[in-house]
Amino acid sequence: MTPDLGFVHRYLPGAEESSPTLLLLHGTGGSEEDLIPLGQDLAPGAAILSPRGKVSEYGAARFFRRLAEGVFDHEDLRFRTHELAEFVEAAAEEYGFDRSKLSAVGYSNGANVAGSTILLHPGLLRAAVLLRAMVPFEPEVTPDLSGMPVFIAAGRMDRMIPPDNTQRLADILTEAGAEVDLRWRNVGHSLTYEEVGEAKEWLAGVLQGL
Ligand code: MLT
Repeated sequence: MTPDLGFVHRYLPGAEESSPTLLLLHGTGGSEEDLIPLGQDLAPGAAILSPRGKVSEYGAARFFRRLAEGVFDHEDLRFRTHELAEFVEAAAEEYGFDRSKLSAVGYSNGANVAGSTILLHPGLLRAAVLLRAMVPFEPEVTPDLSGMPVFIAAGRMDRMIPPDNTQRLADILTEAGAEVDLRWRNVGHSLTYEEVGEAKEWLAGVLQGL
């Protein structure tokens, strides 16, 4: 039986003990199952840790509350981010994966909680792939993200995430020292095969160095 650890989740062990681990964070209305095929495609052989967001928005699972589309409940966001970080620590202990080889892959709401985790818990994630992400909050203190690789895939025609908001996120992370690779495409909120291919190539380069 899957242990609870505070979140409904899936854990799939990696091909080898030394394999990296992907923390998969789904979008609004998703589940712990959603991104597993994507994770397996992005990093074949990696272990997978995939929690389900604990906030329900009229039945749609999310990782934190929002007051309106793109307007976040910052108190809840911070609380949920710490909760997620605790879950990751507990899961590392339970399943025995190497925390220093943990990278996040988040889509939309999942990308936003990944962004929040990067800012509030620098060092927890080694790298991150943020698909359709925006600024979770403006940090009061700039974290030290020296050398952290972050891939951001953004759509110029995304109607949920204003392009200048994604650009601001990239700037915040860059100012904190992260190595941000921000890729723009003439697409909307849905992911495209081309972007998955780009993320896969980028991730392969990053994971090779771990
Ligand atoms: C969010 O609430 O995190 C963003 O608006 C994206 C989404 O709806 O998932």
